[in-house]
Amino acid sequence: MTTVSGATVLVTGGQRGLGRAFEQELLEAGAAKVYATARTPAAESDPRVVPMELEVTDQESVENLARVADDVSIVFNNAGIGGSGPLLETDMDEVMAVFDANVFGALRVAKAFAPILAANGGGALVDIHSALSWAAGSGAYGATKAALWSLTNSLRLELASNGTQVVGVHLGYADTDLTRGIDAPKNDPRVVARDVLTALADGETEVLADDASRAFKAALSGPVEGLSLPSRS
Ligand SMILES: NC(=O)c1ccc[n+]([C@@H]2O[C@H](COP(=O)([O-])OP(=O)(O)OC[C@H]3O[C@@H](n4cnc5c(N)ncnc54)[C@H](OP(=O)(O)O)[C@@H]3O)[C@@H](O)[C@H]2O)c1
Repeated sequence: MTTVSGATVLVTGGQRGLGRAFEQELLEAGAAKVYATARTPAAESDPRVVPMELEVTDQESVENLARVADDVSIVFNNAGIGGSGPLLETDMDEVMAVFDANVFGALRVAKAFAPILAANGGGALVDIHSALSWAAGSGAYGATKAALWSLTNSLRLELASNGTQVVGVHLGYADTDLTRGIDAPKNDPRVVARDVLTALADGETEVLADDASRAFKAALSGPVEGLSLPSRS
């Protein structure tokens, strides 16, 4: 159970997309301060929002952030990139770049902030996965989200003795820059953010934000053929 009211929170990738929605809902719920990161941070008009520079693929950048934001008790590991070409047609450099941002970047942040969360009472780590953690057919992107899901589950065990609540979030499409150009029903990021805050308050470990996430999770116990995205052709 994690209390947002009065808390200081870090949201990676917090200046746009889902990260911005997390920031706004956190403030609505009474968070005292939100560090919102971007690779090139913009000024913020709300004094409760502190823009911070972060490049998750750069260890030094993560460490610089942790040195400043040492008062956080909740971390949202939200920053991530797309990249959904077929695996066989995607250069290895591009595959590795998606893993570096979505998997190793999130792990760098978790490792840097684990002792800070412990020092500030345990708090919470929220990792943003995807419905595609469980679905084949989105190339490197889905593979990174499967890997991140696994990391999150191990981090939950490793952080239990610190009293850190670890929440994994799964969602299908949400209406952000990442899905611009995709013509499909999309989640409202603010609604997803509200669900995540409810999970924090209730002490839950997982958020299944929509039917797509619930359907793929249910399909995990069935034949692997049930874990495929519908063909786009
Ligand atoms: N939108 C969806 O449909 C959807 C569905 C499931 C899961 N997700 C996940 O939700 C998270 C947020 O996605 P979004 O839809 O909000 O995407 P978005 O609108 O494209 O925003 C991506 C965010 O990640 C940050 N970021 C990307 N690469 C980074 C790097 N190397 N270092 C630091 N920050 C970096 C960006 O920061 P800058 O401002 O510096 O670019 C930006 O704030 C991602 O992990 C994504 O995989 C999204």
